[in-house]
Amino acid sequence: MAPFRLYISYTSVVPATDTILTVDGDRLVASLMDLARIGEIDGGGCARLALTDDDKAGRDLVVEWMRDLGLEIVVDVIGNVVGTWRCAPGDPVMTGSHIDTVRTGGKYDGNLGVLAGLEVIRTCQERGITPARPLAVAFFTNEEGARFAPDMMGSLVYVGGMPVEEALGTVGIDGARVGDELARIGYGGSVPCPAAAPHSFVELHIEQGPLLEQRDTTIGAVTGVQGISWQEVTIHGQSNHAGTTPMSLRHDPGYVATALSVFVRDLATRMGGHQVATVGRVEFHPNLVNVVAARATITVDLRNTDERLLREAEAAVADELDRLCRAEGVTAETRTLARFEPVDFDERVVSSIEDIAGGMGLSVMRMPSGAGHDAQMLARVCPTAMIFVPSVKGLSHNPAEHTDASDLVAGANVLLHTMLRLADGSVL
Ligand code: GLV
Ligand code: MN
Ligand code: MN
Repeated sequence: MAPFRLYISYTSVVPATDTILTVDGDRLVASLMDLARIGEIDGGGCARLALTDDDKAGRDLVVEWMRDLGLEIVVDVIGNVVGTWRCAPGDPVMTGSHIDTVRTGGKYDGNLGVLAGLEVIRTCQERGITPARPLAVAFFTNEEGARFAPDMMGSLVYVGGMPVEEALGTVGIDGARVGDELARIGYGGSVPCPAAAPHSFVELHIEQGPLLEQRDTTIGAVTGVQGISWQEVTIHGQSNHAGTTPMSLRHDPGYVATALSVFVRDLATRMGGHQVATVGRVEFHPNLVNVVAARATITVDLRNTDERLLREAEAAVADELDRLCRAEGVTAETRTLARFEPVDFDERVVSSIEDIAGGMGLSVMRMPSGAGHDAQMLARVCPTAMIFVPSVKGLSHNPAEHTDASDLVAGANVLLHTMLRLADGSVL
């Protein structure tokens, strides 16, 4: 690696001063607030579920900003949008994230990574800095997976991890089909996937957990993403009268669903370490006070940084479901919604992020990511890493999600220098 040096600031023809080059923080925060007004919900958050009208309105605004920067804009067959500044020959250094949100999302999850990418290009253009490779900013379709599973769908298709036809045929929680919704909102592009791999990929994101705040640290140099296992479990039993059916004669799917939910929680507590487990969706049919349910559906989200332990957790859940079904006299079927092994990021990019943050006088620590991210898909095809900034009280997927402006801007500045150093060939 070349000797470490941060890019300095230029003002047109005036000779360079010793000021470290920085983005316009007020402008970055203003753009985040503008985007957050689309799909705004009570409590200060956003609801822009993938491929809804609000997602389209958010996409339109970001595409307009890409046009203002003179980027070459490509929309691919799964609706990923990539804006490239062809300032130099070669494969681009890419950044980006997503602008879809969960139904009770915040202003920053995903959006920060996309808008900070645009701010990096705006800053370079304004200061007359021409990176040695093109810079690209992407927003990938349906990262959240809250409406259509799996999560990270757009970036997964982008790198060839899921056939386009399968992704387009995915039916969501509301019965809508990805392909139909893409066409309806005008983002079913013609550029094929898998796409050509970029030179490298770096994603800025809020941490969405408590570690940076607890350790009073501004920047996370993310070493990888933990494995993710999502299953939908549907249990079928005998619907009956809640008052007249003796307990000994019940075949109650509601009971099995709730008992399994408790088991899942206890399992994660028992395993400890990095194991987490969540039952986030519960549906009973017919869902009435005085009716033993005919059917119950729950989702089980298991995550671990260690693939072997994640498999152990999956096996324990399967065994317990089997035991509960036999004891209650009901049947169950499971459907895999998402399954991704843990991912390690590129050590050279991770240590460059550490160096850059340290060189800017920012506190920095290495950490794995608990949440799924588009970067974990890009890591399959090019050197990749991520930059985290703190989430106040560790809250995310919640309208109250917040990151202080100074941290948002610090993260964007680390992104700026990481992209320039990736472009100038001093990292890889
Ligand atoms: C995506 O946000 C996930 O980690 O669930
Ligand atoms: Mn995200
Ligand atoms: Mn999210």
